[in-house]
Amino acid sequence: MPQLLPGVLGHELRNPLAAAMTGALLLREMLDTDDTRGPVLDSVLHDLERIKHLIDGWLQVARAGVAPRRELSVDELLARVAVRHGAQVVGPASDAEVAGDPSLLERALDNLLENARQAGARHVRLAAQVLGGRIQVHVEDDGPGIAPAQRERLFRPGSTGRGGHGLGLYAVATTVAAHAGTVQCVPLTRGTRFTITLPLAAACPALV
Ligand SMILES: Nc1ncnc2c1ncn2[C@@H]1O[C@H](COP(=O)(O)OP(=O)(O)OP(=O)(O)O)[C@@H](O)[C@H]1O
Ligand SMILES: [Mg+2]
Repeated sequence: MPQLLPGVLGHELRNPLAAAMTGALLLREMLDTDDTRGPVLDSVLHDLERIKHLIDGWLQVARAGVAPRRELSVDELLARVAVRHGAQVVGPASDAEVAGDPSLLERALDNLLENARQAGARHVRLAAQVLGGRIQVHVEDDGPGIAPAQRERLFRPGSTGRGGHGLGLYAVATTVAAHAGTVQCVPLTRGTRFTITLPLAAACPALV
């Protein structure tokens, strides 16, 4: 499928979907708490949420190749993501900048942290480490880990171990590749580490 098609489709679906969600939410508020129609509406809302999540994933993948770039601080990026997810940033500040689309890179990290939480991790740690002209961003969790067979197909679309859409890690891989980077998954004794490696902005002026 051409890469822009999911983006256009997603964009066109977003408005009617938002209207449907608002309508369902309004109806939900009109019902008394003991109204037997409540659970039906809850289930509709749940499904609409799932569709929204799927569309957001499409849009993330579609935008990755065409998003505008600017220099952004990795420390600030990690701090914003950590606050949102109640995660911890460990180690010294990297004082590094990468060239990229901040919302896409943040969304990629959001996907990793959401996955960790959904898998049952209690603690997630973020760290950044400059190595030559590149920076590694680590996302480590203390969850149940990922079986070797599943790790092999982890970044392929549709690969889910929890009845999700299997789009999150595909979107991460697409976003990172569009920033000339790589993403790896490494098992830990207790948990999982995802490492995103990106070129420093100074090392790739053509990207800015
Ligand atoms: N940190 C993690 N710990 C344990 N399992 C993980 C972790 N990250 C990902 N997984 C496994 O990898 C699968 C694929 O993740 P991915 O984000 O691509 O899809 P999803 O979360 O199932 O659905 P979506 O993100 O589209 O809602 C997950 O379903 C889960 O089984
Ligand atoms: Mg996910």
